[in-house]
Amino acid sequence: METLSRIEIIRGDITTLEADAIVNAANESLLGGGGVDGAIHRAAGPELLVECRTLGGCRTGDAKITAGYHLPAAHVIHTVGPVWRGGNEGEDELLARCYRSSLEVALQNGLLTIAFPAISTGVYGFPADRAASIAVGTVVSFLRETQSITRVIFCCFSDESAELHRGALENAGRPG
Ligand code: AR6
Repeated sequence: METLSRIEIIRGDITTLEADAIVNAANESLLGGGGVDGAIHRAAGPELLVECRTLGGCRTGDAKITAGYHLPAAHVIHTVGPVWRGGNEGEDELLARCYRSSLEVALQNGLLTIAFPAISTGVYGFPADRAASIAVGTVVSFLRETQSITRVIFCCFSDESAELHRGALENAGRPG
């Protein structure tokens, strides 16, 4: 299927989605926190933390998979975005790696549908417009290389965030 038609941008709560996997914007401990991480752990139930304790944390830019427990999603792919430190500390590349690593983990596990939150744009302070173009650009490049993932959802928590992702997707679709 054509790359751009496999991408969907919605505004909503990622914990309600029935994807094969939802992505968690976690921290290196993988032991929970606030924001989307807190919401995912609350909705999945305490079993998620029990499994996370066995994973030994996760480096920034990497991704690790668990079951989804009480979530409608079958799995959670936990990734750790960069803390924004002004833009000269490799933040852009680390954020791109989060999206790539998560998609690679999905592929390795035979998953077809995956939903992302706007990684690093909350507590970690990454500028939302810059993050949206990295997120969309990275996913578009990845999907151009693989047919097996059938749907990627950007689950934005605000109308503003959804607009930024829509704009980035329009740019990605332009020739040249
Ligand atoms: N569904 C979708 N998006 C959400 C939801 C939700 N239920 N809740 C928040 N967001 P953040 P970060 C959006 O702060 O910046 C945690 O404590 C939110 O509006 O969750 O990567 C971790 O443990 C924002 O656009 O993640 C780490 O310590 C986006 O999700 C740290 O925060 C990401 O915001 C990670 O910070």
